[in-house]
Amino acid sequence: MQIYVDSANLKEIQHAASMGFISGVTTNPSLLAKEDPTTNIRELILSIHKSVGGHTSVEVISTDTDGMLREADEILAWFPEATIKIPFIPAGLAAVRKLSDQDIPTNVTLLFTANQALIAANAGATYVSLFLGRLDDIGTDSMQAVHDTCEIWDTQGLESFIIAASIRTPIHLLECAKAGAHIATVPYKVLMQSMKHPLTDAGLETFLKDAQKVTM
Ligand code: E4P
Repeated sequence: MQIYVDSANLKEIQHAASMGFISGVTTNPSLLAKEDPTTNIRELILSIHKSVGGHTSVEVISTDTDGMLREADEILAWFPEATIKIPFIPAGLAAVRKLSDQDIPTNVTLLFTANQALIAANAGATYVSLFLGRLDDIGTDSMQAVHDTCEIWDTQGLESFIIAASIRTPIHLLECAKAGAHIATVPYKVLMQSMKHPLTDAGLETFLKDAQKVTM
C-alpha cells in the first residue's frame, strides 16, 4: 500500500516528502482554506507538487460538469501530471467519464460506500477515495466499507486504485493496509503518530550512549 500525505501545508508536505516514503499528496478545499489566505493557490499547488514529485490530486469546486471540465483544463495548464479530484455527484461522474476518455487521471472523492466506489470505477475513475473518519464520526463502521470495497475489487478485477481517505488514526492506516487498499492518504499528524514508538527512541538513546564507550 502506498502512502500519500493528506495536507495543503507546504512545510508538513516537505518534511513528509524528505523522509522518502511518500508517493503523493491529496488536497481539498478545506485543507487549502487552513493555509495563509494571502497565498496564491496556483503557486502553492505547484510548490506542493514539486516537493512530492509524485501523485498530486487537486479538487475542483464547480458542481456542474462543464465547470468541472473548465477547472480541470486550468489545473492541467498549471501542471499536466495533475490528478483531477472530483466529488461523487452525477455531474461529477459525467466529468470523470469525459476526462477518463481523454486519459486524464481522476480521483473521485466523498465516497462512503462500496457501491459508490463501484459506480465511480465504472465512470472511469483512476482513483476512488473512500472516507473513513467521517463514517466513524456518525457511528458507522468505516472498515466494513473498506473490506466490502476491497472484496469487490478482488472479485471483479477492477482497475481503479482504492485510496483510503479521511484517515484519523494509526489504526486506520494499519487496518486499511491489511484490508488491501492500494493507497492511504494520511494527515501529517497521523503519519508522525504512526512512526513513533517509545522503544525506538529509547533504543537509539542507548545505542548512542554505548557508542561513546567504544572506539570505531
Ligand atoms: C482526501 O482525499 C480527503 O479529502 C480527506 O482525507 C478528508 O479528510 P477529513 O474527513 O479528515 O476532512
